Amino acid sequence: MAQGVHGEPERRESVLFEPAELGPVRLRNRLVKSATNEGLSRQGLVTDALVAWHRRIAAGGVGMTTLAYCSVSPEGRTFRHQMLMRPEALPGLRSFTEAVHGEGAAAGIQLGHAGWFANPRAAGARPVGPSRMFSPYAGTFSRAATEDDLARIRADFAAAAGLAAEAGFDAVEVHLGHGYLLSQFLSPHHNRRGDRFGGSLAGRARFPREVLRAVRDATRGRLAVTTKLNMEDGFAGGLEVEDSLEIARWIESDGSVDAIQLTGGHTTRTPMFLMRGEVPLREMLAGERSLVRRLGMRLLAPRMLRAWPYEEAFFLPQARRFRAALRLPLMLLGGLSTRASMEQARAEGFDFVALGRALIADPDLPERMRRGEASASRCTHCNRCVIEMERGGTRCVLDDPAAGS
Ligand SMILES: Cc1cc2nc3c(=O)[nH]c(=O)nc-3n(C[C@H](O)[C@H](O)[C@H](O)COP(=O)(O)O)c2cc1C
Repeated sequence: MAQGVHGEPERRESVLFEPAELGPVRLRNRLVKSATNEGLSRQGLVTDALVAWHRRIAAGGVGMTTLAYCSVSPEGRTFRHQMLMRPEALPGLRSFTEAVHGEGAAAGIQLGHAGWFANPRAAGARPVGPSRMFSPYAGTFSRAATEDDLARIRADFAAAAGLAAEAGFDAVEVHLGHGYLLSQFLSPHHNRRGDRFGGSLAGRARFPREVLRAVRDATRGRLAVTTKLNMEDGFAGGLEVEDSLEIARWIESDGSVDAIQLTGGHTTRTPMFLMRGEVPLREMLAGERSLVRRLGMRLLAPRMLRAWPYEEAFFLPQARRFRAALRLPLMLLGGLSTRASMEQARAEGFDFVALGRALIADPDLPERMRRGEASASRCTHCNRCVIEMERGGTRCVLDDPAAGS
């Protein structure tokens, strides 16, 4: 570090710590905690542990933290305890936003619906997707959504966003990625409809765009609306970058969002494409009590858990094409764990950087980078935090090397 006139370390003001507007909201810096299911909600409600988890992230200096994957309706859930947006959840959501605001950060909330791979036991209904399709995840066939279903789901997203505004959130993030319902509509693999919600690319994009519009209309001016959009699904026959670019241009011209967070991959088909790094198969098998399911997992693992090596800023090549094509503020996500790659993202025109595992491992990283005390997260991309999610709450195993073994 350079020496100042009095021999003290000179703090270089980093482009990461410039305040910025996100729609109607001002963030204290450019660092956003991406949605990472915390595994800490109970009965679909915010718990004290969940509030404490995000208070810790907020106190670490991030500009905005994001409460992960809240289902807009019971039928959209993948597990029984998943956050469920309904009036009963309001007091907990309020205590969440108060805690985060108390630490000087903004509060975001991710809204989604699992569609085809919703868990029928948790959801209480047969999964609904763009088309009828067998879901090995759900263990049953989904049914194709009717126009009535679509109207109801659209209204559920709008109501959930309204509830988020009431609870004091600064931003809602609508999930258009990772193979969830709205991403299923975009994907030619899932969307085989012949009506106006399928067929052409414009048809496939129609329902997700309608949902974004409904969320915008339900919240206008009260909070920022963002979307987490797949740039590609990561398998042949899925959504490709060219199509996603066109979809992003339409979303931009609709004026329904204030920023796009760029992602990729599919939770059931290519989960490692969205994460990269080690496949924690040993820990997954150790956590499964049923012999039959353990066997099934061993058989399916090579197909479902194809590995991609971890690389710093792994989505940058695709994201550059979106930066070149759009004027909307963009959040770069995926493998940002060093200060150098975060600053490079800013230099390449990305307005925000979104961090998942880097902050699970090091909640204080933003503040330590701001003070010039750290230049990288200690995350090793072992991905065992994902296993911990279902074992009492998402956490970094580096805090307890014996965990998960
Ligand atoms: C434990 C864990 C849980 C996650 N849960 C979600 C989620 O609920 N919703 C989502 O969109 N992405 C989820 N993700 C993906 C991250 O938001 C992010 O897209 C991915 O980890 C890549 O970013 P990173 O390299 O900064 O970790 C999760 C990731 C992890 C590690």
